[in-house]
Amino acid sequence: MASSTASCLRALSRHTRVAQRLLTKKSFQTASYSLLARHQSVTNKRVLATRGLKTLDFAGSKEVVYERSDWPLAKLQNYFKNDTLALIGYGSQGHGQGLNARDNGLNVIIGVRKDGESWRQAIEDGWVPGESLFSIEEAIDRGTIIMNLLSDAAQSSTWSHISPLITKGKTLYFSHGFSVVYKDDTKVIPPKDVDVILVAPKGSGRTVRTLFKEGRGINSSVAVFQDVTGKAMEKAVAIGVAIGSGYMYETTFEKEVFSDLTGERGVLAAAIQGLFCAQYKVLRANGHSPSEAFNETVEEATQSLYPLIGEKGMDYMFNACSTTARRGALDWAPIFEATNRPVFEKLYESVKNGTETRKALEFNGRATYREDLAKELKEIDEQEIWRVGKVVRSLRPDYTPEH
Ligand SMILES: NC(=O)c1ccc[n+]([C@@H]2O[C@H](COP(=O)([O-])OP(=O)(O)OC[C@H]3O[C@@H](n4cnc5c(N)ncnc54)[C@H](OP(=O)(O)O)[C@@H]3O)[C@@H](O)[C@H]2O)c1
Repeated sequence: MASSTASCLRALSRHTRVAQRLLTKKSFQTASYSLLARHQSVTNKRVLATRGLKTLDFAGSKEVVYERSDWPLAKLQNYFKNDTLALIGYGSQGHGQGLNARDNGLNVIIGVRKDGESWRQAIEDGWVPGESLFSIEEAIDRGTIIMNLLSDAAQSSTWSHISPLITKGKTLYFSHGFSVVYKDDTKVIPPKDVDVILVAPKGSGRTVRTLFKEGRGINSSVAVFQDVTGKAMEKAVAIGVAIGSGYMYETTFEKEVFSDLTGERGVLAAAIQGLFCAQYKVLRANGHSPSEAFNETVEEATQSLYPLIGEKGMDYMFNACSTTARRGALDWAPIFEATNRPVFEKLYESVKNGTETRKALEFNGRATYREDLAKELKEIDEQEIWRVGKVVRSLRPDYTPEH
Protein backbone atom coordinates (compact mmCIF):
# COMPACT_ATOMS: atom_id res chain seq x y z
CA MET A 1 0.00 0.00 0.00
CA ALA A 2 3.05 2.33 0.07
CA SER A 3 2.36 4.12 -3.21
CA SER A 4 -1.36 4.25 -2.46
CA THR A 5 -0.59 5.74 0.93
CA ALA A 6 1.35 8.58 -0.63
CA SER A 7 -1.42 9.40 -3.09
CA CYS A 8 -4.11 9.05 -0.44
CA LEU A 9 -2.18 11.30 1.95
CA ARG A 10 -1.83 13.90 -0.79
CA ALA A 11 -5.58 13.72 -1.37
CA LEU A 12 -6.28 13.92 2.35
CA SER A 13 -3.99 16.87 2.81
CA ARG A 14 -5.85 18.71 0.02
CA HIS A 15 -9.16 17.95 1.73
CA THR A 16 -7.82 18.95 5.13
CA ARG A 17 -6.74 22.34 3.76
CA VAL A 18 -10.18 22.89 2.26
CA ALA A 19 -11.85 21.83 5.52
CA GLN A 20 -9.60 24.13 7.54
CA ARG A 21 -10.43 27.09 5.28
CA LEU A 22 -14.12 26.35 5.66
CA LEU A 23 -13.91 26.05 9.43
CA THR A 24 -12.02 29.31 9.75
CA LYS A 25 -14.52 31.00 7.50
CA LYS A 26 -17.50 29.77 9.45
CA SER A 27 -15.84 30.28 12.87
CA PHE A 28 -18.35 27.86 14.34
CA GLN A 29 -16.18 26.47 17.07
CA THR A 30 -18.37 27.71 19.89
CA ALA A 31 -21.48 28.50 17.90
CA SER A 32 -24.83 27.81 19.50
CA TYR A 33 -27.79 27.15 17.28
CA SER A 34 -28.66 30.83 17.55
CA LEU A 35 -25.40 31.79 15.84
CA LEU A 36 -25.95 29.02 13.39
CA ALA A 37 -29.49 30.18 12.69
CA ARG A 38 -28.12 33.59 11.75
CA HIS A 39 -25.64 32.01 9.38
CA GLN A 40 -28.36 29.82 7.94
CA SER A 41 -30.64 32.74 7.25
CA VAL A 42 -28.11 33.60 4.55
CA THR A 43 -27.71 30.11 3.14
CA ASN A 44 -31.25 28.81 3.70
CA LYS A 45 -32.58 30.36 0.54
CA ARG A 46 -30.23 28.25 -1.52
CA VAL A 47 -30.79 25.12 0.59
CA LEU A 48 -34.56 25.44 0.51
CA ALA A 49 -34.52 26.20 -3.17
CA THR A 50 -32.77 22.91 -3.86
CA ARG A 51 -34.42 20.87 -1.11
CA GLY A 52 -37.99 22.13 -1.18
CA LEU A 53 -39.26 18.56 -1.52
CA LYS A 54 -38.96 16.72 1.78
CA THR A 55 -39.56 13.35 0.19
CA LEU A 56 -36.18 12.46 -1.20
CA ASP A 57 -35.10 9.66 -3.47
CA PHE A 58 -32.56 7.42 -1.72
CA ALA A 59 -31.24 5.22 -4.52
CA GLY A 60 -34.73 4.54 -5.82
CA SER A 61 -36.60 4.48 -2.46
CA LYS A 62 -38.65 7.52 -1.53
CA GLU A 63 -38.21 8.64 2.08
CA VAL A 64 -39.44 11.59 4.10
CA VAL A 65 -36.75 13.67 5.77
CA TYR A 66 -36.99 16.53 8.27
CA GLU A 67 -34.41 19.28 8.32
CA ARG A 68 -33.34 21.71 10.98
CA SER A 69 -33.71 24.57 8.51
CA ASP A 70 -37.51 24.27 8.93
CA TRP A 71 -37.15 25.18 12.61
CA PRO A 72 -35.51 28.58 13.07
CA LEU A 73 -34.60 29.13 16.70
CA ALA A 74 -37.44 31.59 17.39
CA LYS A 75 -40.00 29.07 16.11
CA LEU A 76 -38.43 26.33 18.20
CA GLN A 77 -38.45 28.40 21.37
CA ASN A 78 -42.03 29.49 20.75
CA TYR A 79 -43.11 25.87 20.17
CA PHE A 80 -41.77 24.80 23.57
CA LYS A 81 -42.55 27.99 25.49
CA ASN A 82 -44.94 26.20 27.84
CA ASP A 83 -42.89 23.03 28.17
CA THR A 84 -40.32 21.72 30.59
CA LEU A 85 -38.06 19.08 29.11
CA ALA A 86 -37.21 16.67 31.95
CA LEU A 87 -34.20 14.57 30.99
CA ILE A 88 -34.08 11.47 33.15
CA GLY A 89 -30.53 10.10 33.20
CA TYR A 90 -27.30 11.89 32.47
CA GLY A 91 -25.08 9.47 30.58
CA SER A 92 -23.56 10.46 27.27
CA GLN A 93 -26.96 11.22 25.67
CA GLY A 94 -28.25 13.13 28.70
CA HIS A 95 -25.13 15.27 28.59
CA GLY A 96 -25.27 15.99 24.83
CA GLN A 97 -29.02 16.35 24.41
CA GLY A 98 -29.50 18.29 27.66
CA LEU A 99 -26.78 20.86 27.06
CA ASN A 100 -27.82 21.38 23.43
CA ALA A 101 -31.49 21.93 24.33
CA ARG A 102 -30.42 24.28 27.13
CA ASP A 103 -28.15 26.25 24.77
CA ASN A 104 -31.08 26.47 22.35
CA GLY A 105 -32.89 28.42 25.04
CA LEU A 106 -35.40 25.77 26.13
CA ASN A 107 -36.49 25.07 29.67
CA VAL A 108 -34.56 21.91 30.57
CA ILE A 109 -34.18 20.08 33.86
CA ILE A 110 -32.26 16.92 34.75
CA GLY A 111 -33.43 14.02 36.92
CA VAL A 112 -30.90 11.48 38.21
CA ARG A 113 -30.37 9.48 41.35
CA LYS A 114 -28.88 11.68 44.00
CA ASP A 115 -25.17 11.52 44.68
CA GLY A 116 -24.41 9.05 41.87
CA GLU A 117 -21.80 9.64 39.18
CA SER A 118 -24.38 11.35 36.95
CA TRP A 119 -25.41 13.76 39.70
CA ARG A 120 -21.76 14.80 40.06
CA GLN A 121 -21.31 15.19 36.29
CA ALA A 122 -24.50 17.21 35.95
CA ILE A 123 -23.29 19.68 38.59
CA GLU A 124 -19.97 19.92 36.75
CA ASP A 125 -21.93 20.88 33.60
CA GLY A 126 -23.72 23.68 35.41
CA TRP A 127 -27.04 22.07 36.39
CA VAL A 128 -28.05 23.40 39.79
CA PRO A 129 -29.58 21.18 42.51
CA GLY A 130 -33.08 22.39 43.35
CA GLU A 131 -33.23 24.63 40.24
CA SER A 132 -32.43 22.47 37.24
CA LEU A 133 -31.21 19.24 38.85
CA PHE A 134 -33.59 16.99 40.77
CA SER A 135 -34.24 13.44 41.81
CA ILE A 136 -35.77 11.31 39.06
CA GLU A 137 -39.24 11.47 40.63
CA GLU A 138 -39.23 15.24 41.13
CA ALA A 139 -37.98 15.90 37.61
CA ILE A 140 -40.77 13.76 36.13
CA ASP A 141 -43.27 15.57 38.29
CA ARG A 142 -42.04 18.98 37.08
CA GLY A 143 -41.60 18.00 33.42
CA THR A 144 -44.11 18.05 30.59
CA ILE A 145 -41.86 16.13 28.20
CA ILE A 146 -40.23 13.20 29.97
CA MET A 147 -37.06 12.23 28.13
CA ASN A 148 -36.09 8.80 29.36
CA LEU A 149 -32.33 8.69 28.91
CA LEU A 150 -31.55 6.23 31.65
CA SER A 151 -29.51 3.24 30.55
CA ASP A 152 -31.76 0.72 28.80
CA ALA A 153 -31.39 -1.65 31.76
CA ALA A 154 -32.36 1.12 34.20
CA GLN A 155 -35.39 2.06 32.09
CA SER A 156 -36.61 -1.43 32.79
CA SER A 157 -35.69 -1.69 36.48
CA THR A 158 -37.15 1.74 37.35
CA TRP A 159 -40.30 1.46 35.21
CA SER A 160 -42.76 0.17 37.82
CA HIS A 161 -41.71 3.01 40.07
CA ILE A 162 -41.78 5.89 37.55
CA SER A 163 -44.62 4.93 35.20
CA PRO A 164 -47.41 6.14 37.56
CA LEU A 165 -45.74 9.59 37.49
CA ILE A 166 -46.11 9.87 33.71
CA THR A 167 -49.60 11.27 33.76
CA LYS A 168 -52.04 12.37 31.06
CA GLY A 169 -50.86 15.42 29.13
CA LYS A 170 -47.18 14.60 29.46
CA THR A 171 -45.13 13.25 26.57
CA LEU A 172 -42.86 10.24 26.90
CA TYR A 173 -39.66 10.35 24.86
CA PHE A 174 -36.95 7.76 24.24
CA SER A 175 -33.72 7.71 22.24
CA HIS A 176 -33.99 3.98 21.56
CA GLY A 177 -36.81 1.60 20.72
CA PHE A 178 -35.33 -0.94 23.14
CA SER A 179 -37.59 -0.66 26.19
CA VAL A 180 -40.90 -0.44 24.35
CA VAL A 181 -40.19 -3.05 21.67
CA TYR A 182 -38.84 -5.72 24.04
CA LYS A 183 -41.65 -5.14 26.52
CA ASP A 184 -41.89 -8.83 27.42
CA ASP A 185 -38.38 -8.57 28.87
CA THR A 186 -38.31 -4.92 30.00
CA LYS A 187 -41.94 -4.67 31.23
CA VAL A 188 -42.01 -1.11 29.86
CA ILE A 189 -45.59 -0.54 28.70
CA PRO A 190 -46.32 3.18 28.24
CA PRO A 191 -49.53 4.65 29.67
CA LYS A 192 -52.29 4.76 27.03
CA ASP A 193 -52.98 8.49 27.39
CA VAL A 194 -49.59 10.03 26.51
CA ASP A 195 -47.75 10.62 23.25
CA VAL A 196 -44.79 8.26 22.96
CA ILE A 197 -42.04 9.41 20.63
CA LEU A 198 -38.44 8.70 19.76
CA VAL A 199 -35.45 10.62 18.49
CA ALA A 200 -32.38 8.44 18.18
CA PRO A 201 -29.16 10.30 17.38
CA LYS A 202 -26.90 8.25 15.17
CA GLY A 203 -23.84 8.79 17.28
CA SER A 204 -22.53 9.04 20.81
CA GLY A 205 -23.93 11.78 23.03
CA ARG A 206 -20.43 13.27 23.07
CA THR A 207 -20.66 13.67 19.28
CA VAL A 208 -24.16 15.10 19.62
CA ARG A 209 -22.57 17.83 21.71
CA THR A 210 -19.38 18.46 19.71
CA LEU A 211 -21.19 18.63 16.37
CA PHE A 212 -23.64 21.12 17.86
CA LYS A 213 -20.82 23.28 19.20
CA GLU A 214 -19.22 23.26 15.75
CA GLY A 215 -22.50 24.48 14.25
CA ARG A 216 -23.09 21.11 12.61
CA GLY A 217 -25.74 18.51 13.47
CA ILE A 218 -26.03 14.80 14.16
CA ASN A 219 -28.26 12.68 11.90
CA SER A 220 -31.11 11.15 13.90
CA SER A 221 -34.04 8.85 13.32
CA VAL A 222 -37.50 9.84 14.48
CA ALA A 223 -40.54 7.70 15.27
CA VAL A 224 -43.94 7.72 16.91
CA PHE A 225 -45.17 4.78 18.96
CA GLN A 226 -48.37 6.36 20.27
CA ASP A 227 -50.07 9.52 19.00
CA VAL A 228 -52.73 10.74 21.43
CA THR A 229 -52.64 14.43 20.55
CA GLY A 230 -52.30 14.12 16.78
CA LYS A 231 -49.13 16.20 17.10
CA ALA A 232 -46.70 13.48 18.12
CA MET A 233 -44.56 13.48 14.96
CA GLU A 234 -44.32 17.26 14.84
CA LYS A 235 -43.28 17.30 18.51
CA ALA A 236 -40.69 14.56 17.94
CA VAL A 237 -39.15 16.47 15.04
CA ALA A 238 -39.05 19.69 17.07
CA ILE A 239 -37.31 17.91 19.95
CA GLY A 240 -34.92 16.36 17.47
CA VAL A 241 -33.94 19.84 16.34
CA ALA A 242 -33.75 21.06 19.95
CA ILE A 243 -31.27 18.36 20.94
CA GLY A 244 -28.98 19.05 17.98
CA SER A 245 -30.10 16.99 15.00
CA GLY A 246 -29.18 18.18 11.53
CA TYR A 247 -31.65 16.05 9.64
CA MET A 248 -33.98 13.23 10.67
CA TYR A 249 -35.32 10.22 8.83
CA GLU A 250 -38.50 8.35 9.73
CA THR A 251 -38.47 4.94 11.31
CA THR A 252 -40.50 2.83 13.73
CA PHE A 253 -39.52 1.87 17.28
CA GLU A 254 -38.97 -1.71 16.12
CA LYS A 255 -36.88 -0.88 13.06
CA GLU A 256 -34.80 1.57 15.09
CA VAL A 257 -33.85 -0.95 17.74
CA PHE A 258 -33.20 -3.81 15.30
CA SER A 259 -30.93 -1.68 13.11
CA ASP A 260 -29.23 0.05 16.03
CA LEU A 261 -28.33 -3.12 17.93
CA THR A 262 -27.13 -4.72 14.70
CA GLY A 263 -25.05 -1.69 13.76
CA GLU A 264 -23.21 -1.33 17.06
CA ARG A 265 -22.60 -5.07 17.29
CA GLY A 266 -21.52 -4.95 13.65
CA VAL A 267 -19.53 -2.47 11.63
CA LEU A 268 -19.80 0.45 14.04
CA ALA A 269 -17.90 -1.14 16.90
CA ALA A 270 -17.59 -4.90 17.33
CA ALA A 271 -16.85 -5.92 13.73
CA ILE A 272 -14.29 -3.18 13.27
CA GLN A 273 -12.43 -4.27 16.42
CA GLY A 274 -12.59 -7.88 15.21
CA LEU A 275 -11.28 -7.02 11.73
CA PHE A 276 -8.53 -4.74 13.01
CA CYS A 277 -7.35 -7.45 15.42
CA ALA A 278 -7.48 -10.23 12.83
CA GLN A 279 -5.39 -8.33 10.29
CA TYR A 280 -2.95 -6.99 12.91
CA LYS A 281 -2.34 -10.47 14.30
CA VAL A 282 -1.72 -11.98 10.84
CA LEU A 283 0.82 -9.27 10.06
CA ARG A 284 2.54 -9.74 13.43
CA ALA A 285 2.58 -13.53 13.05
CA ASN A 286 4.35 -13.04 9.71
CA GLY A 287 7.16 -11.03 11.24
CA HIS A 288 5.97 -7.46 10.73
CA SER A 289 6.89 -4.95 13.40
CA PRO A 290 4.15 -3.58 15.70
CA SER A 291 4.63 -0.18 14.14
CA GLU A 292 4.15 -1.51 10.60
CA ALA A 293 1.22 -3.74 11.54
CA PHE A 294 -0.57 -0.86 13.29
CA ASN A 295 0.06 1.65 10.51
CA GLU A 296 -1.18 -0.76 7.81
CA THR A 297 -4.25 -1.67 9.85
CA VAL A 298 -5.53 1.22 11.93
CA GLU A 299 -3.64 4.44 11.41
CA GLU A 300 -3.90 4.53 7.63
CA ALA A 301 -7.58 3.59 7.89
CA THR A 302 -8.62 6.22 10.41
CA GLN A 303 -6.28 9.02 9.39
CA SER A 304 -6.23 8.70 5.62
CA LEU A 305 -8.80 6.42 4.01
CA TYR A 306 -11.98 6.36 6.12
CA PRO A 307 -12.35 10.17 6.11
CA LEU A 308 -12.45 9.92 2.31
CA ILE A 309 -15.36 7.45 2.51
CA GLY A 310 -17.17 9.89 4.78
CA GLU A 311 -16.53 12.68 2.38
CA LYS A 312 -17.53 11.18 -0.95
CA GLY A 313 -18.11 7.45 -0.73
CA MET A 314 -16.29 4.16 -1.17
CA ASP A 315 -15.52 4.48 -4.89
CA TYR A 316 -13.93 7.84 -4.15
CA MET A 317 -11.69 6.27 -1.53
CA PHE A 318 -10.76 3.38 -3.84
CA ASN A 319 -10.03 5.89 -6.57
CA ALA A 320 -7.74 7.91 -4.33
CA CYS A 321 -5.55 4.80 -3.98
CA SER A 322 -3.04 3.37 -6.44
CA THR A 323 -4.21 1.15 -9.28
CA THR A 324 -2.52 -1.76 -7.46
CA ALA A 325 -4.60 -1.07 -4.36
CA ARG A 326 -7.76 -0.57 -6.42
CA ARG A 327 -7.35 -3.96 -8.14
CA GLY A 328 -6.85 -5.71 -4.80
CA ALA A 329 -9.73 -3.90 -3.11
CA LEU A 330 -12.10 -4.75 -5.97
CA ASP A 331 -11.08 -8.42 -5.83
CA TRP A 332 -11.20 -8.87 -2.06
CA ALA A 333 -14.29 -6.84 -1.11
CA PRO A 334 -16.74 -9.53 -2.35
CA ILE A 335 -14.78 -12.22 -0.47
CA PHE A 336 -15.09 -10.29 2.80
CA GLU A 337 -18.78 -9.67 2.10
CA ALA A 338 -19.51 -13.34 1.42
CA THR A 339 -17.53 -14.45 4.47
CA ASN A 340 -19.13 -11.97 6.82
CA ARG A 341 -22.71 -11.96 5.62
CA PRO A 342 -23.60 -15.15 7.51
CA VAL A 343 -22.21 -13.57 10.68
CA PHE A 344 -24.43 -10.53 10.15
CA GLU A 345 -27.45 -12.80 9.51
CA LYS A 346 -26.73 -14.56 12.81
CA LEU A 347 -26.31 -11.23 14.58
CA TYR A 348 -29.61 -9.85 13.19
CA GLU A 349 -31.45 -12.97 14.34
CA SER A 350 -29.91 -12.67 17.79
CA VAL A 351 -31.16 -9.06 17.93
CA LYS A 352 -34.62 -9.91 16.61
CA ASN A 353 -35.26 -12.83 18.94
CA GLY A 354 -34.30 -10.76 21.99
CA THR A 355 -31.10 -12.60 22.93
CA GLU A 356 -29.05 -9.39 22.75
CA THR A 357 -31.63 -7.52 24.81
CA ARG A 358 -31.69 -10.09 27.57
CA LYS A 359 -27.88 -10.07 27.78
CA ALA A 360 -27.79 -6.27 27.99
CA LEU A 361 -30.53 -6.17 30.63
CA GLU A 362 -28.84 -8.79 32.76
CA PHE A 363 -25.35 -7.34 32.53
CA ASN A 364 -26.18 -3.64 32.76
CA GLY A 365 -28.76 -4.27 35.47
CA ARG A 366 -26.04 -5.34 37.92
CA ALA A 367 -25.15 -2.93 40.68
CA THR A 368 -21.52 -3.27 39.53
CA TYR A 369 -22.25 -2.56 35.84
CA ARG A 370 -19.85 0.40 35.59
CA GLU A 371 -16.89 -1.48 37.13
CA ASP A 372 -17.66 -4.66 35.16
CA LEU A 373 -17.72 -2.81 31.84
CA ALA A 374 -14.60 -0.84 32.74
CA LYS A 375 -12.73 -4.07 33.51
CA GLU A 376 -13.46 -5.56 30.07
CA LEU A 377 -12.70 -2.32 28.27
CA LYS A 378 -9.36 -2.15 30.10
CA GLU A 379 -8.55 -5.55 28.65
CA ILE A 380 -9.03 -4.08 25.16
CA ASP A 381 -6.90 -1.07 26.06
CA GLU A 382 -4.15 -3.47 27.10
CA GLN A 383 -4.15 -5.46 23.84
CA GLU A 384 -0.88 -5.05 21.96
CA ILE A 385 -2.57 -3.37 19.01
CA TRP A 386 -3.97 -0.55 21.14
CA ARG A 387 -0.81 -0.16 23.23
CA VAL A 388 1.06 0.30 19.95
CA GLY A 389 -1.61 2.79 18.88
CA LYS A 390 -0.73 5.06 21.80
CA VAL A 391 2.88 5.25 20.63
CA VAL A 392 1.91 5.82 17.00
CA ARG A 393 -0.52 8.60 17.98
CA SER A 394 2.19 10.26 20.06
CA LEU A 395 4.27 10.61 16.88
CA ARG A 396 1.64 12.64 15.06
CA PRO A 397 2.99 16.16 14.52
CA ASP A 398 -0.21 17.64 15.96
CA TYR A 399 -0.19 15.30 18.97
CA THR A 400 -1.47 16.53 22.30
CA PRO A 401 -0.89 14.20 25.28
CA GLU A 402 -3.76 11.80 26.06
CA HIS A 403 -5.15 11.51 29.54
N1 LIG B 1 -24.67 6.39 23.96
C1 LIG B 1 -25.04 6.32 22.70
O1 LIG B 1 -24.21 6.28 21.77
C2 LIG B 1 -26.52 6.31 22.35
C3 LIG B 1 -26.89 6.68 21.06
C4 LIG B 1 -28.23 6.75 20.74
C5 LIG B 1 -29.16 6.38 21.69
N2 LIG B 1 -28.78 5.98 22.94
C6 LIG B 1 -29.80 5.62 23.92
O2 LIG B 1 -29.94 6.72 24.83
C7 LIG B 1 -30.31 6.22 26.14
C8 LIG B 1 -29.28 6.67 27.15
O3 LIG B 1 -28.02 6.14 26.81
P1 LIG B 1 -26.66 6.75 27.39
O4 LIG B 1 -25.56 6.08 26.64
O5 LIG B 1 -26.73 8.21 27.44
O6 LIG B 1 -26.72 6.30 28.90
P2 LIG B 1 -26.13 5.04 29.67
O7 LIG B 1 -24.67 5.27 29.86
O8 LIG B 1 -26.55 3.77 29.07
O9 LIG B 1 -26.93 5.25 31.04
C9 LIG B 1 -26.48 6.15 31.99
C10 LIG B 1 -27.55 6.70 32.90
O10 LIG B 1 -28.39 5.67 33.47
C11 LIG B 1 -28.37 5.87 34.90
N3 LIG B 1 -28.62 4.60 35.61
C12 LIG B 1 -28.03 3.40 35.39
N4 LIG B 1 -28.55 2.48 36.23
C13 LIG B 1 -29.47 3.14 37.00
C14 LIG B 1 -30.37 2.72 38.02
N5 LIG B 1 -30.42 1.45 38.42
N6 LIG B 1 -31.19 3.66 38.56
C15 LIG B 1 -31.15 4.94 38.15
N7 LIG B 1 -30.33 5.39 37.18
C16 LIG B 1 -29.51 4.49 36.61
C17 LIG B 1 -26.99 6.41 35.21
O11 LIG B 1 -26.99 7.05 36.44
P3 LIG B 1 -25.81 6.81 37.52
O12 LIG B 1 -24.65 7.64 37.06
O13 LIG B 1 -26.41 7.30 38.77
O14 LIG B 1 -25.46 5.34 37.49
C18 LIG B 1 -26.83 7.39 34.04
O15 LIG B 1 -27.44 8.62 34.30
C19 LIG B 1 -30.40 4.70 25.99
O16 LIG B 1 -31.72 4.36 25.68
C20 LIG B 1 -29.48 4.43 24.82
O17 LIG B 1 -29.77 3.21 24.17
C21 LIG B 1 -27.48 5.96 23.30
